[in-house]
Amino acid sequence: MSPAWTIPGFLEVRNQHLSINGVDAIELVKQFGSPLFVFSEPRIRHNIDRLKKAADAVDRPIKFCYASKANSNMAILKTVLESGIDVEVNSGGELFKALRVGFKPDQIIFNGTSKSDDEIDDAVRAGIYAINIDSVFEIGLVEQSVDRLRARGENVSPARITLRLVPEIGTRSHLGLQTALLTSKFGISSSEVLSAFRRGLQNPDKVHVCGIHIHVGSQTPDVEPFAEAFRSMWEHLVAIHRETGHTLEHINLGGGIPVNYLRDRTQADQLPEHERDMLGAELEPIEVLREALRVARESARAAGAEHLLDQVTILLEPGRSIIADAGLVLTTVRNIKTRPETEDVWLLTDAGYNIMLSMNNYKWYYHLISASRAAEGYDNDYKVAGPLCDSGDVYFDIEREGRLPDYRKLPANVQPDEVLALLNCGAYSLAQMFHYNGRPLPAAVLVRENQRVDQIRKRDTYEELIASDIW
Ligand SMILES: Cc1ncc(COP(=O)(O)O)c(C=O)c1O
Repeated sequence: MSPAWTIPGFLEVRNQHLSINGVDAIELVKQFGSPLFVFSEPRIRHNIDRLKKAADAVDRPIKFCYASKANSNMAILKTVLESGIDVEVNSGGELFKALRVGFKPDQIIFNGTSKSDDEIDDAVRAGIYAINIDSVFEIGLVEQSVDRLRARGENVSPARITLRLVPEIGTRSHLGLQTALLTSKFGISSSEVLSAFRRGLQNPDKVHVCGIHIHVGSQTPDVEPFAEAFRSMWEHLVAIHRETGHTLEHINLGGGIPVNYLRDRTQADQLPEHERDMLGAELEPIEVLREALRVARESARAAGAEHLLDQVTILLEPGRSIIADAGLVLTTVRNIKTRPETEDVWLLTDAGYNIMLSMNNYKWYYHLISASRAAEGYDNDYKVAGPLCDSGDVYFDIEREGRLPDYRKLPANVQPDEVLALLNCGAYSLAQMFHYNGRPLPAAVLVRENQRVDQIRKRDTYEELIASDIW
C-alpha cells in the first residue's frame, strides 16, 4: 500500500525514491544541490482548477486573485497568470512583480496596512482593479495621490478603492493568522464602516468606492467564519445602497481556504487536538462559496434586495490553497550524533528556519519523509534539526508546548547524505527566506508536464551575501 502522503500522478514512490510528477527527487538534488525547493506546475494548475470548478458550480461571477505573498517567485506568478486567474499584492514590490510578469492592471488588487505614498502612486498610476483601504485616513492618502499625479500632468482616472472591514470574527487558526479580530491590526471596525463609506463617496472625481473586503485569516478550517464575513459585507452593501444609492460592485471574501498538512496522520496523534483540527482541515472551496451565498441569499430575501445580490461579483484571494501542497523542500542529512544519556539520535540537516520561517514562528508542521527510501517503514524516532546556530532551529517545539512532535519518524538507520523531504512547503516559505548565518538561499525548480524540469531560482552565491553591504 502507498504511504498516506502520496498523491497519484504527483507525489509518488518510484524505485524506492520520492518522485514528483515522475521526476526522481534524488536526481534533482544531484543536479541542483541541496537544500532545494521543488514545485509542481501540474499541481498548481490542479489547485486553480479546483477553485474554478467551485465557481462554475455556484454559477456566479467570481474573480480569483492569487495572494502573491504566499509565493511571488516570478515563474510561479507566471504559472498563475497562465492559468487564467488574477492576483493580489501587498506591497509596491509585489505590484512591480505582478506588472512585470504580465498581469494587466485590472487583474490586480492591492492590500496593505502601511502603504507609502510611492506605493499608492504606483497603484493609482497603473489604474489597478482595487486598492484595498485599511483605514479612514488612507482614503485621504489615495485622494492626495490622485491630486499629486494630476498636478504633475499625469492623466489618472479616479482610483478604485475597496474598504477592508474587521468585524470581530474568530477562527480556529493560529492567533497570528487571524485577521478579522478587533485586536488585529487590520481594517476598519464595524462602528466606523458607514462613516468610512460616506467619506469614500465624498470625492468621486478622485476615488471610486467599488467594493468591500474581509479576510478572516489564513488556514481557516471551518466554513462558518467565511459565511459570517460574507453576510456582514452583504448587509453593509445593502445599508450603503439604501442610504446613498451607491451600489458596490464586489464583495471580497479574502483568502484562507485551508490545506490538509496531515494527509499522513502517522505523527498527528502527538499534536494537540486544536492543532490537529487546524492543520488537518479539509474544506472545499465549493462549500465556502455555497454557504456564503446561502446566508447572503437568506438575508437578501428578507431585505427585498435579491436583485443587488445577483449583480455582485465575488472576489477571493487564495494563496496557501494554490501553492502550499505544490511545493516541497529536499534537504540532506549533513551530520549525525547520539546522546547516550537520552538515547536520542540527532539528524542535522541543511534546511533551517531561514528557508521555512513558519516552522519556527508558528511551529508549523511539515510532514517529513525520506526521499531516498520513501516507502520504507517509518518506525524510528529521530530528533531532527537544521543548520542554524540557534537552539530554536529544530523540527520540534523547543518551547515544550507540544505544537510539533518531539521526534520525527523515519526509516531505520538514517545516515549522513540521505535526502529527506519536507512536504507542503510551497506557501510562506520561499517568500520569507533570509540569509541568517551567512547562508546563501537555495535554488528552486519547477517540474512541468512531461517531466520537464526548469530552474526557477538560482542558488545564491557568497558574493550575493555582501552585494548590498557598503564597506
Ligand atoms: C488580505 C489577505 N488576503 C489573502 C491572504 C491569503 O491567505 P491564504 O494564503 O490563507 O489563502 C492573506 C494572508 O493571510 C491576506 O492577508
